[in-house]
Amino acid sequence: MLDMDASSIIEQAKLNACDYACRHLYDKYGDALVVGVGTGSTVKLLITKCRDFFTKRVLVPSSHDTLLHLVSLGLNTAVDPAGVDDIDLYIDGADEVSGKLDLVKGRGGAFLREKSLAVRSRVRMYVVDYTKYTGLNHIYVKPIPIEVVPVSVKYVIRKLQELGYGEPLLRMGTGKDGPVVSDNGNFIVDYRLLKPVEDPLSLHNTLKLVHGVIETGIFPSNLVDIVVVGEPAGVRVLGKNTGGRE
Ligand code: 5RP
Repeated sequence: MLDMDASSIIEQAKLNACDYACRHLYDKYGDALVVGVGTGSTVKLLITKCRDFFTKRVLVPSSHDTLLHLVSLGLNTAVDPAGVDDIDLYIDGADEVSGKLDLVKGRGGAFLREKSLAVRSRVRMYVVDYTKYTGLNHIYVKPIPIEVVPVSVKYVIRKLQELGYGEPLLRMGTGKDGPVVSDNGNFIVDYRLLKPVEDPLSLHNTLKLVHGVIETGIFPSNLVDIVVVGEPAGVRVLGKNTGGRE
């Protein structure tokens, strides 16, 4: 458990990241019409602090939680992701950011829809605090969330054990009995890595071949254009600013 000082330093770092990100949105993406919106506390803070940027744009939420947050702020221009083809700009948080800008996402269980938006976006920006950025050449710290068809969950867990990259654990709910059920009606298995992974895209591809696996929380660097890392006093901006599609 973090003491108050440590958690308020992290909150300040998040604020710094969101302040910078908001200015960057106005400076660089004022003409973005269709904006994909990720999930999590950092994205919520950014939307709240930078609310005016999000008005009069078509907003594509990645979760029920994000949709409800948008509506609570009077941002009523959200559309169903299924009806959208091109997205000008995607904004999200992350759980782990490597030095090569490979990401692990999915603590909030929204990674399937988050990735669905990221792959069809022209530019993808992630906003995190400094505790998420490792600067290392591998991913390792956070378990890889894996979205799984419920009927196949026993099989998937056995196969993940056999693959030997990590220890799989079915994610359980706290506000209900039984497993967490994603916005898509699936289960989530968290795969705690046994050793550092230097080629996350290759691991993602391996996991996707297991019957029953729908998506993983590995966002390889080709889905990342810019990462704003909030520090206790300032920000660090990483990435390539603009980029193509997957
Ligand atoms: C949700 C996610 C979030 O973006 C990630 O967990 C970061 O959340 P937070 O900003 O609350 O730390 O991947 O599925």
